[in-house]
Amino acid sequence: MEEILYITTPIYYVNAKPHIGHAYTTIVCDVFARFNRMLGKRVKFVTGTDEHGKKIEQSAARSGMTPQVFSDQVSQLFRELLPILNVSNDDFVRTTENRHKVAVSHIWNTLHQNGYIYLGEYSGWYDIRNEAYFTEEELVDGKSPLDGREVVIMKEECYFFKLSAFQNKLLEYYESHKDFIFPESKRNEVISFVKSGLKDLAISRTTFNWGIPVPHNDKHVIYVWMDALANYLTCNNYPENQDQNNNEFWQNSLHFIGKEIVRFHAVYWPAFLMAANITPPRQIIAHGWWLSEGEKMSKSLGNVQDPVKLCNLFGSDALRYFLLRELSFGEDGNFTIESFVTRYNGFLANSYGNLCKRVITLVDKYSNGFVIKPEKFSKTDKDFVQNIDLLLEKTIELVEKYAFNRYLEKIEMATSLANQFIDQEKPWALKEFNDIKRMQDVLYILLEAIIKITKFFDPVTPIAASKILHQIDNSVRDKITVNSVDESVFPRIDVTKINEFDVYAKD
Ligand code: MSP
Repeated sequence: MEEILYITTPIYYVNAKPHIGHAYTTIVCDVFARFNRMLGKRVKFVTGTDEHGKKIEQSAARSGMTPQVFSDQVSQLFRELLPILNVSNDDFVRTTENRHKVAVSHIWNTLHQNGYIYLGEYSGWYDIRNEAYFTEEELVDGKSPLDGREVVIMKEECYFFKLSAFQNKLLEYYESHKDFIFPESKRNEVISFVKSGLKDLAISRTTFNWGIPVPHNDKHVIYVWMDALANYLTCNNYPENQDQNNNEFWQNSLHFIGKEIVRFHAVYWPAFLMAANITPPRQIIAHGWWLSEGEKMSKSLGNVQDPVKLCNLFGSDALRYFLLRELSFGEDGNFTIESFVTRYNGFLANSYGNLCKRVITLVDKYSNGFVIKPEKFSKTDKDFVQNIDLLLEKTIELVEKYAFNRYLEKIEMATSLANQFIDQEKPWALKEFNDIKRMQDVLYILLEAIIKITKFFDPVTPIAASKILHQIDNSVRDKITVNSVDESVFPRIDVTKINEFDVYAKD
């Protein structure tokens, strides 16, 4: 049976321009989507923008715009980033779209009908940026426990969701679905949070208007997280498609998120879904955070790398490769331009790009642009082919475990084996000694290795892969023809220019 996957990014707040952290989550999802499509799976991959809430209303006011005009502009920047990063998403959802409002109202009504919503009054410490209330005890040094921001005291009439009714159900669910939360460390955190007790959750606000109105009581707008989480259903044709439990995309839904929003996805979201009689998604996958030059990225420090500038300077393939290679998924990583250039030159230019260019040029120059499959393979040849195959085979399970940096390590190892093979077999020397047959065999074996490596590298570097696979044609059986070009797919970066590169976002 055909395997199916439904892959989602978080939907991004439109209060700031997209930066390298947002680009990372999207690229991770894209690589995972492309890799799985390469394996023959049917993939639906969606992303979008989260546009309601007080914070966005405030940002819009500061810019002197209505929230709608403001959201239109910033959402457009997120949308335009996708082709720049070469992202293969199937849908882009905005929470201000009608289809989404319909989905959210429908969920609200369902929860209400099922008896999980009641009207009450809330007072507590409110973290505006994260749109979350906290009790006195939950504050850390009087600040938001999420990220240390200021909190203000607030009191309002609001609707509550009976989250407390789901404490045991959630714990049972985590127990019977051991891989629901990835990685394990986050799973443990969630379990101990839920065990410590769940209070009912305030799910409406009356202190601002920029949101989806509560059905039948438009004094209230729906809590932005309930609104935002529902996007995953909107993109799966809910409520038109009511039967999500038997929907193969929903059954195979994977939500990729940053580690700071695990609680919303692994506690609130499955509880909302259970209350609506919808099964929780298959998995919540949390990754770590990028720091910039060792510090938290922030506009005020001016240290936020701009993904658009990086793509303009070095190409989207290079950015995609660097982000996945440098950070060990789940852990935090540090973005520096030095490490970017070092990895680029070290692998993309000197190892992979150079290998492709060298072999293609040799076939072009010494063998009239084509080679025929060897009649027999020596022990060295067989070992080489087998080692490459083993390394590439291994990438499948690594990607399945979201070990993207280790997947790329295997690609690097396979490429370096091919570079060793060429240095050891010296096709140029074989040519000199007139051993044309062996020279052609060696080049054939190398071209085949390049094709295989390139296919497994394609999810990360699709532009280079398509160029290489255009230069190497194996559509005729047992014959490989090349089209030589002078430029390497990854020309070396001049390290002496490193200080001249302008990679930071301006505003
Ligand atoms: N709108 C909510 C998500 C709602 S999903 C139903 C939100 N938006 S966000 O724009 O603030 O952040 C979205 C995601 O961007 C984070 O979860 C994370 O995946 C990514 N990142 C933002 N900054 C980041 C870094 N510095 N490093 C890595 N990823 C980070 O939260």
